[in-house]
Amino acid sequence: MSTGHDIRRNAGLDDIETAPVEQIRELQLERLRWSIRHAYDHVEHYRTALDSAGVHPDDIRALGDLSRLPFTTKEDLRRHYPFGMFAVPQDQVSRVHASSGTTGRPTVVGYTRDDLATWAQVMARSIFAAGGRPGDILHNAYGYGLFTGGLGAHAGAELLGCTVVPISGGMTERQVRLIDDFRPRVIMVTPSYMLALVDEMERQGIDPRSTSLEIGIFGAEPWTNEMRREVEERLAIRAVDIYGLSEVIGPGVAQECVETQDGLHVWEDHFYPEIVDPFTDEVLPDGEKGELVLTSLTKQAMPVLRYRTRDLTRLLPGTARSMRRIEKITGRSDDMIILRGVNLFPTQIEELVLESVELSPHFQCVLTRSGRTDTLTVKVEHRPGVAADSALAAGRQLAARVKATIGVTVGVDVVATESIERSVGKMRRIVDLRAVG
Ligand code: DLL
Repeated sequence: MSTGHDIRRNAGLDDIETAPVEQIRELQLERLRWSIRHAYDHVEHYRTALDSAGVHPDDIRALGDLSRLPFTTKEDLRRHYPFGMFAVPQDQVSRVHASSGTTGRPTVVGYTRDDLATWAQVMARSIFAAGGRPGDILHNAYGYGLFTGGLGAHAGAELLGCTVVPISGGMTERQVRLIDDFRPRVIMVTPSYMLALVDEMERQGIDPRSTSLEIGIFGAEPWTNEMRREVEERLAIRAVDIYGLSEVIGPGVAQECVETQDGLHVWEDHFYPEIVDPFTDEVLPDGEKGELVLTSLTKQAMPVLRYRTRDLTRLLPGTARSMRRIEKITGRSDDMIILRGVNLFPTQIEELVLESVELSPHFQCVLTRSGRTDTLTVKVEHRPGVAADSALAAGRQLAARVKATIGVTVGVDVVATESIERSVGKMRRIVDLRAVG
């Protein structure tokens, strides 16, 4: 019988995940020095930024010296659109991906062949940590194309030795039919699209708890532990969290292990995490909450130094693996709603919505303005079969719970089943109508 260790080895994975912390730190320092030198020598932006901050790659002698480097932001990447942040000649770039660019110019990211191999490896590791095994059928409903989700998950699943169903997002009815016919054990999809798939199963008369699915690897958007309970319960699966972002590589920067389900291990041999205070920019000690900043340690085509992710979390010590964990992400600083001086995130609303048996997890936060006053209305669907008066009462209760726990008055609009737009990828949680009309 082969052990988990053998299977990992056979799948081409290495032992670094469980290496002693000192060994990981040593490797990180060596790689960090290489990465900074590589960026400085080959990307004009980094050379200028480091020169003006008065630091030189040779000044980096310990991991803590990283804090002397300036941050890199999305605006920096946009300014150098499309290929200005690349550190290798274009003929060594095997592939590009890009963000959707809904809020301005898209950001473009590039990969050498080695980068693609690294990415496949961290993704294979992630799927393994999630409980996926060689031979599993894996239904990959992350979008294929410029988005990193589909192709990133695909390469990792193939490397691990899974049978990949590259369905991408959309065509919900067909997705459900294929799950029924192909009998996958693992599904990779955004949590919001998973919910749309569960609804569709029920519509087709398939009991979601009776499918072949055993593991869901959910990410690309914030989701709460309450949402985890919802999907685990409705589908009779284990749900684990996967994190990543295009600028750093794509999915596979951090992964939650199925045996502990206690936050996401950052694959620290390739990505170095820091947490900074988003307002003072000061580096915070492990355990304190702030903005996640990531530095690539091995990426060739597009190294990133101290990239401001805007994602809010904290660093925790390793458990199932030696590498540090990030706590489930509560939101992005850009998604923070400030209402009459109170800060709030859609994930806080999600937690409260899911406490109600009458309300469904399909909801949106709608912001409007009259005069100088901003109003937040939570538009939420009631669950199928709930009577109108119970739905109304649940709405009133939700408003009271928001007031009691978050301390702010919101409107709640309970709407009919299927009346909120379904996403096939990342769900739009905030609808900001403040500038309209
Ligand atoms: O969403 C990469 C990805 C694909 C991750 C598939 C996981 C699964 P971007 O489109 O560049 O890349 O968006 C990155 O999405 O900065 C977070 O704000 C958010 N995000 C990604 N994963 C999670 C997660 C992909 N597990 C941005 N929890 C990130 C919360 C997440 N937010």
